Parts: sequence; structure tokens; C-alpha cells
Amino acid sequence: MFVEKVLSGMRPTGRLHLGHYHGVLANWVKLQHEYPCLFFVADWHALTTAYDEPGTITQNTWDMVVDWLAAGVDPAQATIFIQSRVPEHAELHLLLSMMTPLGWLERVPTYKDQQEKLSHKDLTTYGFLGYPLLQAADILIYRADKVPVGDDQVPHIEFTREIARRFNHLYGREAGFEEKAIEAVKKLGSKRAKLYKELRTRYQEKGEEAALEQAHAVLDEAQSLSYGDRERLFGYLEGGGKMILAEPDALLTHASRMPGLDGQKMSKSYGNTIALREDAASITKKIRTMQTDPQRVRRTDAGDPDKCPVWQFHQIYSNDEVRDWVQQGCRSAGIGCIECKQPVIEQILKEQEPMRERARAYEDDPQLVKNIIADGCEKARRLAQETMRDVREAIGLDYS
Ligand code: TRP
Ligand code: SF4
Repeated sequence: MFVEKVLSGMRPTGRLHLGHYHGVLANWVKLQHEYPCLFFVADWHALTTAYDEPGTITQNTWDMVVDWLAAGVDPAQATIFIQSRVPEHAELHLLLSMMTPLGWLERVPTYKDQQEKLSHKDLTTYGFLGYPLLQAADILIYRADKVPVGDDQVPHIEFTREIARRFNHLYGREAGFEEKAIEAVKKLGSKRAKLYKELRTRYQEKGEEAALEQAHAVLDEAQSLSYGDRERLFGYLEGGGKMILAEPDALLTHASRMPGLDGQKMSKSYGNTIALREDAASITKKIRTMQTDPQRVRRTDAGDPDKCPVWQFHQIYSNDEVRDWVQQGCRSAGIGCIECKQPVIEQILKEQEPMRERARAYEDDPQLVKNIIADGCEKARRLAQETMRDVREAIGLDYS
């Protein structure tokens, strides 16, 4: 049975906060039980927008990886590595750059958006323009099937799919493809081969998407197929040639949007964050001094939870019972704001306790983190090298 792989990356921003946890990490922790997962630090990506501040990258990387581990990303389940330690990403990026139309890159929405938003930075570089292609290489080099990302990144996944299609179209046309594909069909065994042929005809003659999907499922279940034959049979379904690079899907994280202390999105640049592994006293103080409904000046004034950022925290951290208590108590001035905040404080501290516990071991012995990364890089590298062998061969750079 062919297993789908998950891959995702994060720029090394240093210590993470609750927004990262609820938005991304909690999802990674869940996914690692469901799929083989690869999670990496996108350190080259950090350079695309900050090539002039290199001094911070390594420390930010270590801090971030400790937070991943603290949050429960488990190196026994997921492969954790650093992009720049797998230089094959750069080789694939280079080779893909030869066939990437400039217009495709200029049209990626984040290109103009970021240039406008980060106008104090020099983003007129070749590296910044090419960064979606670097991301495409990150994904394609592992033949990842699913990429968990936020909705701002969906165009990058769509771009990655286009690059994969273009690559397969240009380089998947090996000599004798048709004959090799027909041979490969036979290897499916008579029952599966018959089904595959029927489904292929239905897709090619009637354009039935469902038939295509079912044929993919048939191939996914075919255990004894070599990778080359698998590529051929995927490609043969749609005509063309071999499918050397796999088209990934975005796995949209519909995570709860974590509010910051002021009710805006939690973000370092707004100064409204609670860090993972922040000490209890500091968390308590931050919540206690948090803004509430501005209309509720005195304890005897009734309030409106919809106008209060504390209520947004209750929506993430509290059960129905507590939420009812807040709604009623606030609207009737039955409870005070400090009282209302107490369950939130307790839940955040409870959520962080195992994180602080896990982090302690890594803080005490940084070598543990280095070993985890070294292992992860080695595993990732083996996978990347496999893909690169096929890619070089397809392009005609095979000197063996
Ligand atoms: N571009 C992503 C971000 O800024 C990070 C990233 C780099 C990534 N390579 C990736 C995410 C590959 C998913 C897959 O958040
Ligand atoms: Fe906000 Fe709670 Fe105070 Fe109401 S009682 S204003 S929800 S903190």
C-alpha cells in the first residue's frame, strides 16, 4: 500500500507563541499520528526577506525546534530537519528555475503583497522573486502528497502543482513510454489490470474525474509496483509520459484563530503574545491586565462578551458550562472581570505544563536537540537523494 506523506516548513522566527501552537503546531502533532510526516526549518526562506540579518538565524532555529518538541512534535514519529542541511533542495530549485516562466513567479500574489507590506526592506532580489519556487522544491523533493498550510500559502501550493505538471510534461517523455506503460499494466495482475484499463478509457474518452480518482486508488493499493512503473502508470492515465514529480494538495488548517491579548491576531509585531514555555507569573499578569469590554468601567456595569477579547480566549479554552457562566455573569454584572479571567489563566497554565516539562530536558542538554536534527537531516536527505536521481536522469544529467 502506498502511503501519503505530509510535509510542512516554518521560517525560523525564534520562540513561538500560542498563535503558532493553536494555528499550526497542534495540527502537526495530530498529523504525525496519521501520516509519515516531515517537518523542517525553512532557514533559507528566512534569508529571502532578511538576507542582511544573518546573525539571528541559527539561534532562532534552535529556539523554534525546542518549541516544536515542547509542543509535542515527536521525533520518533515525525522527521524533523533543517532545510539548508539538505542541499538537494537547492539543486532541485536550480534545475526547476531553468523551466520556470518569470511571469508565473511575478503573478504569485504574495510577491507584490509582501513588497508592499515590507516596504522598509529590499525585496527586489532574485531570491525573493524565486522564493515560491524554493518552496516548490521543498515539497516536490519529498514527493509530498499533503502540505498543511494557512490560506495565505494556498497559491504557493497551486504554483507547486503547476511546476510539477510542467516538469513531468517536459521530461517525462522517455523513449518507448507506451510499451513500458503497457508492460507495467500487466504487472498489476489480471484483475487490477482490467480495472485500470477500464477506468483509463472512461477517463480519457468521457473525461470522468471519478474514474481517474478510482484509478489512482487502484495504483495506491498495488504493492509490488516499482517507483518507475508507478510513475508510468500515473502518467499513462492522463496521456503524456511519466509522472516524475507528484502534485501535492494543500491541507488547509481550519485552526481556531488565536486572538492576541488585545483581541487582534496574535503576532510578535503587535506585541500581544503569550509565548510557549512562558513562566506562570508572567502569563498570569498578562491575562490579569488584559483589556476587557471598554464599556464596562465599574464592577456594577453590565458587559458584552462580544466586545471583549477575554471572551475570545474563553471560546478557545473553556467548555460550555464556563462559557454560559461568562455570558450570564458578564451581561448581568454578576461576575467581575478578574473572576472571569481566572479559568482562562488556569487553562493556559495547564496547557503549558507538559510543554515546559518536555522543554526542560532539551534546555538542560542542547546536544539532544542537535542529535534529533542530525537524525532527521539524514533521513530527509536519503529521500531527497532518491528523487534527485530520477530528476537528473529525466533531464539527461546522468553520468553514471
Ligand atoms: N513559505 C512558508 C511560510 O512562509 C514556509 C515554507 C517554506 C513551507 N517551504 C515550505 C511551508 C514548504 C510548507 C511547505 O510560512
Ligand atoms: Fe470580558 Fe469577562 Fe469582563 Fe465580560 S466579565 S467584560 S467577558 S472579562
